[in-house]
Amino acid sequence: MAIHEAPIGIVDSGLGGLTVLAALRRAMPEQDFLYLGDNAHAPYGVKSPEEVVALTRGAVETLFGRGCRLVLLACNTASALALRRLQRDWLPDAAPDRRVLGVFVPLIEAVSGHGWREAGQSARRLRAVFFATPATVASGAFSREAQRLAPGLSIVEQGCPGLVDALENGTDPAPFIRRAVAGALAQGSADVALLGCTHYPLAETNFRAALPPGLPILSQPDIVAHSLSAYLDRHPQFCGGAGRLECLTTGDPAQVEARAGALFGQAMAFGAA
Ligand code: DGL
Repeated sequence: MAIHEAPIGIVDSGLGGLTVLAALRRAMPEQDFLYLGDNAHAPYGVKSPEEVVALTRGAVETLFGRGCRLVLLACNTASALALRRLQRDWLPDAAPDRRVLGVFVPLIEAVSGHGWREAGQSARRLRAVFFATPATVASGAFSREAQRLAPGLSIVEQGCPGLVDALENGTDPAPFIRRAVAGALAQGSADVALLGCTHYPLAETNFRAALPPGLPILSQPDIVAHSLSAYLDRHPQFCGGAGRLECLTTGDPAQVEARAGALFGQAMAFGAA
């Protein structure tokens, strides 16, 4: 199916962004989306900042080239390493009328938001453990953004090496999650766990099993969908369509379709980017 109007572009290094895409489509069934998984270069979470910036810019260019005027980086690693640089150094000249958004701000707003005040948590410093890829953690970008937007929030960042590879390749994610949770808890107790990689909702039950019972877990798909929907209410020039979806990959479409089908329990068609 070719999309002729301006769909919203969604980018991830691979299949993780599909967790966000599913929530976006539930929240905005009338909207057209064009998904791009950069599977040929996944995972981003072990790459250098320069590599992630170049790959993210290439992916956004592909989506702009296919008519998108708004692109969501449904990838924390790209949001951490590339978003600000693309917004500041590239977009104003390359495509001043187009927008690129990330996934940090909605998560920070959700964790520092109203629900916690009701629970009486704002009286003290809320301590959140943020699970993410090694590159996201090394950048420190989430903590900087949280400090800017929600100074009452104390963030412990914990990398989960190997977890994205396990999820992309279909091997057992549990050992990687148990190691990461042990590393996080060794740094002290937490009030809430944040899944700061769009692949991790695919393993939320493993996080649940490894984390202390009752510890709230916030994951991004519904939070980001709610936030993007509010953004589109404020910027209606970026929305429209008839609920169409097209998925592209830089990898092998047949392999990506098979893996996406296994992860999401439904057939998904991918074309070559
Ligand atoms: N799903 C991505 C994220 O949110 C990318 C993970 C990776 O490619 O390492 O960070």
